[in-house]
Amino acid sequence: MQALRAALLRFADDGTPLYERDGLVVFGPDAEGRQVVRAVGAWSQLADRVAGLAVRHLPGRLIAPGFIDLHIHYPQTDVIGSPAEGLLPWLENYTFPHESRFDDPAYASEIAAVFLDELLRNGVTTALTFCTSHPQSVDAFMGAAQRRRMRMIGGKVLQDRHSPDGVRDETEQSLRDTEALIGRWHGTARLGYAITPRFAPSCTEAQLRGAGELAAQYPDVWIQSHVAENRDEVRWARELFPQARSYLDVYRGFGLLRERAVYAHCNHFDDEDRALMRDTGAAAAVSPTSNLFLGSGFFDFEGAQRVGFQHGLASDVGGGTSFNPFHTMLAAYYAGREGQTKPGVSLTPSRLWWLHTAGAARALGLEGVVGNLQPGCEADCVVIDLQAAPLLGRRVAQARSLEELLFALIVLGDDRATEQVWVDGHAAT
Ligand code: GUN
Ligand code: ZN
Repeated sequence: MQALRAALLRFADDGTPLYERDGLVVFGPDAEGRQVVRAVGAWSQLADRVAGLAVRHLPGRLIAPGFIDLHIHYPQTDVIGSPAEGLLPWLENYTFPHESRFDDPAYASEIAAVFLDELLRNGVTTALTFCTSHPQSVDAFMGAAQRRRMRMIGGKVLQDRHSPDGVRDETEQSLRDTEALIGRWHGTARLGYAITPRFAPSCTEAQLRGAGELAAQYPDVWIQSHVAENRDEVRWARELFPQARSYLDVYRGFGLLRERAVYAHCNHFDDEDRALMRDTGAAAAVSPTSNLFLGSGFFDFEGAQRVGFQHGLASDVGGGTSFNPFHTMLAAYYAGREGQTKPGVSLTPSRLWWLHTAGAARALGLEGVVGNLQPGCEADCVVIDLQAAPLLGRRVAQARSLEELLFALIVLGDDRATEQVWVDGHAAT
């Protein structure tokens, strides 16, 4: 058992933030031996129950759920900050050449380690990540995540056309590899598998059909892809699949929209697309730093809320510019203000935070498992030092409400503020 005492943030089922100025969380094994939250709440209410336990008292700190990154590419860790006119030249000039290096298992293992340590340094304990088209890139990633006891989801990229030598795969083999990787990794330790068509333009109809068949055969496996990110990409997808009503509708036609399907970006949608997301239970991984960096467009938060489909926040590194959840939340706030709807929406700090924790867990079908600190949730959390930087400390000291405190962190916080990360009931950093 581990007991941590400090200010504490968690969320009610409806997304309302619950805050204890002096709180306590106790981690320990459940009946199956999983490390979970055994007790949580106000210190004054729980102090008697932990008599005899060594309580770590952390004044000036905020305990919060480990962050969830809904869309990221581990092989693009070293691609961050590669400038390009837009998405398609960025893929061609930087990303595909770099990803071709992951046929080397030693290189894949090296980068998987750097990537996972960087996530932890930034307080991210769960991510839905692309690997590359090389099956060995998945083995390297999953092995490294398992050693760190992290709840990670990943998959081998499918891309059997419009892709250069070195990353292009072969239709039948790619589907056999996917099924073998599902067998090897899905449900092993805390790991999950995601069927990963890169995006419709990089996949033949046969590959998309095969991916959809696997998605039907393995309903609790995730699906991840990209959609409606950039206007040139949307035009290209429409040319390649003229029979579909929209780019998103291509995926529906192949059985790739369902619960546990997470689509990155979803910028250039109309209301029919939004309704299709809602009705199929698919979710959007909103990637604001990537959208701003690559000039892709804006996610319409108002449209998503009005029509009512699931969405959460993502870094999309290496199109995105930061592993840091504070930076992603701030970019989401900017994007909301400037988005497609005028005058835009002003997302509250607690809503931004929810979209990167409990809301992201809901989008993954992992509500009550990760992304929150309610009883029974898995024992992943961050300990945030509210005085980690001079300006942050000053602003936090003047915060008059939880919303002001969270906004101070979103605007002024960075990786210095993530003092400690707990993964699976153990101190990981
Ligand atoms: N669309 C297809 N591949 C990619 C990728 O690697 N990054 C982004 N942002 N969009 C994509
Ligand atoms: Zn991406």
